[in-house]
Amino acid sequence: MKNFLTTFDLSGDQLNQLIDSALRFKTGADKSKPLANRSIALVFFNPSLRTRASMQVGIYELGGHPVVLEPGGTSWTLEHREGALMDGDKTEHVAEFVRVLGRYCAAIGVRTFAALKNWDEERADPILNAFAKYSDVPIINLESAMHHPCQALADVMTIQEKLGKAKKRVVLTWAWHPKPLPMAVPNSFALAAAQMGHDLVIAYPTGYELDEELMQTITQCAAASGGGVQVTRNVDAAFDGAEVIYAKSWGAKQFYGAPERDMVERAQYRDRWIVDEQKMARTNKAIFMHCLPVRRNVIVTDGVIDSPASVVIDEAENRLWAQKAIMAGWPGKEN
Ligand code: CP
Repeated sequence: MKNFLTTFDLSGDQLNQLIDSALRFKTGADKSKPLANRSIALVFFNPSLRTRASMQVGIYELGGHPVVLEPGGTSWTLEHREGALMDGDKTEHVAEFVRVLGRYCAAIGVRTFAALKNWDEERADPILNAFAKYSDVPIINLESAMHHPCQALADVMTIQEKLGKAKKRVVLTWAWHPKPLPMAVPNSFALAAAQMGHDLVIAYPTGYELDEELMQTITQCAAASGGGVQVTRNVDAAFDGAEVIYAKSWGAKQFYGAPERDMVERAQYRDRWIVDEQKMARTNKAIFMHCLPVRRNVIVTDGVIDSPASVVIDEAENRLWAQKAIMAGWPGKEN
């Protein structure tokens, strides 16, 4: 396995090895510089604060050099479809782009969000997979249409750091947001939490189901790791006894291509599907998590995100340490 595309590429034990490595970097026990005299390309089709800054800093701290490219901005517009007739607005094909970059760089990170236009196409992660197909060097997923494994690794690392290694009651809750958002974060968080053996509760209103095939994988991972998965439409009851609350909004699959219909549908959930002090009071002293960026008083109240229960800044910091562990060499990668 040469790529890091989803946490499912690794076993629960291997994820734990990566967390151990991340903690060694964080405590200063590991000061190695495995990227000395090497460069890593970071390709951003979409905006970023945490991913971009933490990857750039991480590469520097590992002794390497980051090469940041923005297709359509600081580099050419990119076509990814096989057999495409390139007589439109795309200047270069991924086939050449990644193989040229591979002659300069030891690995390529890529961020390519879902466009939320065509569910059947986007659920197959076509741009990420085109990078993986043509590349001669490892591809690191920095958030694709369906997965954000670097975020998920930092998330499960944060749970371990705050609450220990034993399994926890972990609640992933949908939250109202004015517009539909991609599903990569909830997909990857649910998958990683299941791989780590947590008791996972996923709460969302009817119509906001996660991908069916992915849910089967999550259920199998939970069964194999001694955890469990429950789905509920009752946002209040979901909080009962929770030790971790992870909030995220996402779009409905059936409204890909019709965001205005999703916005009408979700309007009924405004002010109801929000993480607030009343819901947090139902938990078992839960920590509050969100991948950020977050809309205050929309997804979560000021009272919760500014409370001692909130670990969002530590969670964002752990992106740096988790990604250093990944770049230092994930299990199966040829270094
Ligand atoms: N959580 C996360 O990936 O943040 P950015 O979009 O700012 O990179």
